[in-house]
Amino acid sequence: MFTPPFILSIAGGGSTYTPGIVKSLMVQLDKFPLAEIRLYDIDVARQNTIAPVVEKVIRDHSQSIKFTVTGDPEVAFSGAHFVFAQMRVGQYKMREQDEKIPLRHGVVGQETCGPGGLAYGLRTILPMVELIDMVDRYAHEKAWIVNYSNPAAIVAEGVRRLRPDARVLNICDMPVAAMRNMGAILGVDRHKLEVDYFGLNHFGWFTRVLVDGVDRLPELRRHIAKFGLLTEDAAKTDPQHSDPSWVKTWRNIKPIMDNFPEYLPNPYLQYYLMPNQIVEHQNPDYTRANEVMNGREKKLFAAAEEYKKTGILSDAFHVGVHGEFIVDVARSLAFNLRQRHLVMVENRGAIVNLPYDAMVEVPAYITSEGPEPVRIGKVPLFHQTLLQQQLASEQLLVEATIEGSYEKALQAFTLNRTVPTMEHAKAILDEMIEANRDYWPALQQAWRDGE
Ligand code: G6P
Ligand code: MN
Repeated sequence: MFTPPFILSIAGGGSTYTPGIVKSLMVQLDKFPLAEIRLYDIDVARQNTIAPVVEKVIRDHSQSIKFTVTGDPEVAFSGAHFVFAQMRVGQYKMREQDEKIPLRHGVVGQETCGPGGLAYGLRTILPMVELIDMVDRYAHEKAWIVNYSNPAAIVAEGVRRLRPDARVLNICDMPVAAMRNMGAILGVDRHKLEVDYFGLNHFGWFTRVLVDGVDRLPELRRHIAKFGLLTEDAAKTDPQHSDPSWVKTWRNIKPIMDNFPEYLPNPYLQYYLMPNQIVEHQNPDYTRANEVMNGREKKLFAAAEEYKKTGILSDAFHVGVHGEFIVDVARSLAFNLRQRHLVMVENRGAIVNLPYDAMVEVPAYITSEGPEPVRIGKVPLFHQTLLQQQLASEQLLVEATIEGSYEKALQAFTLNRTVPTMEHAKAILDEMIEANRDYWPALQQAWRDGE
């Protein structure tokens, strides 16, 4: 353990999430003391647009914290104790492609699920490894990377394969966002919930929701059977996930639990269990990437512009569970708090009937040496089989990236539950190769090329 105050670097400093994360850090400064915050991004112009907003957030709380904005990894990471990673390789423009290309073939278009997620994985694994190597070179030898970068399941598997000893903790805010809605429904602060959960990232189930030792899942089931995982004041309880498309997502917990009431699914299971309905309701010309570019991103850029002109910063971002969660996890790492959080870890027998080396998402106690996962035991055959298939798709994608293999990429696409046929898989993959020319490693067809 290192002694505070800490040096914290944010990789992907130009993200729309940066001001919210920094605000979350500022309101908890007494619990997580900071000497310096550094923003690092390869898109220096974008980062420079957002940086004054971040600086204002810092200065509203502290005059003493040093603030550095840089595109130079040595400046960004030298001596850093924590790195929060939130890279979006190809930015929202490429997310738009991830969503629209599959949709043109009648297949789910989503940033982390189905072909879109696989494409995003092919873009992100190698840059993530580069980031790890830079942190390894410059940062404190015990530095932790807390990683939000998507597609998190695939990134986690890529990191496990390529940098197994790296001090990287992969996290996602979706389970916490679900827990916040559960708390709102039950009238209980989400921090009071202790959940059991198993799965992969964006592919898992809550099996128990304890409040003071009592399982409240039965009560949640009754609410969900009427309204989905949503309260009337969802926008207030969850401003990040309150656009109409998110409201629909929360409501879709209902049809899933109408059929499979035993466990409460991660909202992302809608893409795998009801893909036709999802595709029917998506506008192929205006997807979530467009909503985000014309919503969250535009609003923040406009506020940054206005702040530059007038010195007045409007309410253009929020902390949300996203901002809160990463700071909670970092605090537990920093001070060995052993808080229980849902995170991604190597399975190593936690889920007995999934492969030993799978990167699973389960509850873990977060110590200063990393997560200590709880033992889940055996999961039912239905869930195990769904998980195995998704895992195989993701692992093949990682192998495709490492080996530069077209065949493995095609297998990954074909195995994904959202993709109905080999022909769909191939047509989508081939279009995606074109669209990702500047980002993907070259994929070779070993058999056809006679190697
Ligand atoms: C959730 C997921 C993230 C994902 C985000 C997308 O928070 O956990 O992994 O990136 O949703 O939200 P957006 O508002 O960009 O569609
Ligand atoms: Mn996520």
